[in-house]
Amino acid sequence: MTADSPAELGRRAQAMLDALAAISDEEGRITRLYLSPAHRRAADLVARWMREAGMAVSEDALGTVRGSTPPGAPGPSSNRRYLVGSHIDTVVDAGRYDGMLGVVAGILALQEIAARGIRLPFGVDVLAFGDEEGVRFPTTLASSSAVAGVFDTADLDGARDAAGVSLREALVAFGGDPDGVASAAYPRDEVLGYLEVHIEQGPVLEIEDRPLGVVTSIAGQSRFLVTVTGDAGHAGTVPMGHRRDALAAGAEMILAVEEIARAGREHQMVATVGRLSLEPGAVNVIPSRVSFTVDLRAATDPPRAAAEAAVRHRFRAIAEARSVAFLMDRYHDTPTTPCAGRIQDAFARAMGDLGLPARRLTSGAGHDGHAMHALCDIGMLFVRCRAGISHNPNEYADAGDMGLAVEALIRALTALADGEGEGST
Ligand code: GLV
Ligand code: MN
Ligand code: MN
Repeated sequence: MTADSPAELGRRAQAMLDALAAISDEEGRITRLYLSPAHRRAADLVARWMREAGMAVSEDALGTVRGSTPPGAPGPSSNRRYLVGSHIDTVVDAGRYDGMLGVVAGILALQEIAARGIRLPFGVDVLAFGDEEGVRFPTTLASSSAVAGVFDTADLDGARDAAGVSLREALVAFGGDPDGVASAAYPRDEVLGYLEVHIEQGPVLEIEDRPLGVVTSIAGQSRFLVTVTGDAGHAGTVPMGHRRDALAAGAEMILAVEEIARAGREHQMVATVGRLSLEPGAVNVIPSRVSFTVDLRAATDPPRAAAEAAVRHRFRAIAEARSVAFLMDRYHDTPTTPCAGRIQDAFARAMGDLGLPARRLTSGAGHDGHAMHALCDIGMLFVRCRAGISHNPNEYADAGDMGLAVEALIRALTALADGEGEGST
């Protein structure tokens, strides 16, 4: 049965998002880290929805749920497919839209395409990735990297979570196949492009009173693990001038990171220290070891590289002045990723059909498209969210806007079908 209106599609999306939001590893808040028991249950629910929508469902070696729809009409692209998706992992104490909306929108769009009897000349696979947030393991985009054929298998044993569990062990517990990573990759010549619907996670669309926007590029980002090593000592006896306090040095380093990011405002530079731990962690012991993460982003790549160099320079000076040692390991780095003109145009045309002028904007947040760009052209459609709030339980998107996004996705796929044979940009 067709949904008839974007409003009905929005209501369906909201109900599915509410069902996913009830699946959490923590009581009273949404936390669903990669390969956790809640991720398992969410993947099973998504697989059920895909089956109910008539898709052939499978799960790849790294836990990405794949719902496949065959082409509806024969043609030169009938052995090729578009991929549509997003992620179902979350940050700690998350909202209910970041990632999940893109998966739900893909399922609803494909269900509606079938119900309306629209016959696309290519297949479409809906993908529910598991590791977009990179919160549990120091990997980030492991599942989409595997789909794109660029996953580094050294991470299977090299990446461990805070409890010491390796990615390989977690995959086995989840039901994945650490030795089957290669089979998760799509053959490059079978894929026409990757489309993702996502909340904006910023305030621009709301300020301009627009429900949807077309993404032009996704800002690059680098992530680091910094470890500072000093000397433990007695809080009551070691004179201030004789200390090698790892935390005091770390605090100065964190403020230096903030200062460097603030100086890069014209490049939309932002830097965040989101995780910090110290040892031995006692009220009367001088901290001997501090670890913290740095997440550094900018609209283009050269200022980000310059900021990294500036951070390393400042850290060296601080460590020398305080007689501590430090290591700064860059464990994740993605360049600024462009969205293909032809997919941007398909979304813009779809929005035009709906009477919406196409506002084009960049994404400051990271997305699976970073990894998927190694496989194919990518494109993203943003949905307005309230006050730009994201990575926060107060994240909110209006059901009416989400319905428009599903309708725009249906029409963008149809527009891409019309453009078949034009090749990629
Ligand atoms: C993902 O949400 C990121 O941008 O960190
Ligand atoms: Mn996301
Ligand atoms: Mn996120």
